[in-house]
Amino acid sequence: MRATGILGLAALALALTACATPEDVADRETARQAARGQAYAIQNCAACHAIEAYQETSPNPDAPAFAEAARMPGMNRRALNAWLNTPHPSMPNLIVPPEQIDELSAYISTLEN
Ligand code: HEC
Repeated sequence: MRATGILGLAALALALTACATPEDVADRETARQAARGQAYAIQNCAACHAIEAYQETSPNPDAPAFAEAARMPGMNRRALNAWLNTPHPSMPNLIVPPEQIDELSAYISTLEN
């Protein structure tokens, strides 16, 4: 009796794993990237920029809100990467490393809705 239960569980686990499509895997990777991007933004950008979806105005009113950027027409991951590569006129030393740009754009694209 108990053996069948365990077998059943094993079969269920197997079935669940088999259900993970390549899209699911890509989604999970994007979600992980986005989480890292959010953490990076909290530490490095949130002092001036509104970085959360619900934040309408930035702590520094001159700094564009990230959700607003996400909603700009034609803004996709590629455009976000380009936007994030734009140097700050006021702070030329604030340069985001390429890996964090990818994570940030993954995060910012989640703010679109
Ligand atoms: C000390 C305040 C401050 C911090 C920290 C900061 N920003 Fe900004 N950011 C600004 C201001 C102010 C502007 C408006 C343009 C300017 O004066 O540079 C701006 C503009 C931008 C722009 C728009 C550039 C353009 O021309 O459209 C992007 C993109 C940006 N910031 C990304 C970031 C990211 C990503 C971080 C975190 C890694 C960050 N900023 C951290 C203050 C800040």
